[in-house]
Amino acid sequence: MTKTARPTTDSYAETTHLVLPNDTNTMGNLFGGQLLKWLDISCAISAHRHCKRLVVTVAVNHVGFDRPIKLGDFVTIKSHVSRGFSTSMEVWSDVWVEDQLTGEKILANSAIYTFVAIDQAGRSCSVPDVIPQDEEQQKRYDGALRRRQLRLILSGKMKAADANELRALFE
Ligand SMILES: CC(C)(COP(=O)(O)OP(=O)(O)OC[C@H]1O[C@@H](n2cnc3c(N)ncnc32)[C@H](O)[C@@H]1OP(=O)(O)O)[C@@H](O)C(=O)NCCC(=O)NCCS
Repeated sequence: MTKTARPTTDSYAETTHLVLPNDTNTMGNLFGGQLLKWLDISCAISAHRHCKRLVVTVAVNHVGFDRPIKLGDFVTIKSHVSRGFSTSMEVWSDVWVEDQLTGEKILANSAIYTFVAIDQAGRSCSVPDVIPQDEEQQKRYDGALRRRQLRLILSGKMKAADANELRALFE
């Protein structure tokens, strides 16, 4: 059954963390694995808010560590579902780091995760699509089909010959 699409705003999740000594590596920077965990939780909240079901991470698709995040930094993670497919959802997270002297927030990196909605027996179930609310969300929505095909090819779940969205880029 096709579900009614929901606005991106329905799936917004925002969390702020203080980087403590236990979260850092030997250089005093935020440990990458800790950031991945915070991202996973934030994306899971977004995916759940979007489809109102249990969700599981099926893939971590892109995470860049563009700048080091320091001990004592405030880290704010903002997530939303960028597109719903049949049973899976693409979720974006933007990571903002706050300069404690000026209060300025700098975009440190963005991440993309894929979640699947499941029932109590662990079977995948259908999810609503997304209605983008601004230009940036529309851009992410439009690109989601191409990224989906790319990750399915890389995980061996789609033949390159079937990736019509990707092929269209080069035609
Ligand atoms: C997620 C899970 C329920 C999917 O099982 P399934 O329904 O048999 O799998 P399917 O092959 O039908 O795929 C379901 C959806 O996931 C998508 N998917 C599967 N593998 C994927 C991958 N590597 N990357 C992106 N999407 C993927 C499929 O495209 C499909 O999406 P769609 O319905 O929107 O087209 C099952 O694989 C699972 O339980 N995995 C473990 C999840 C988990 O424990 N996560 C925590 C990890 S620490």
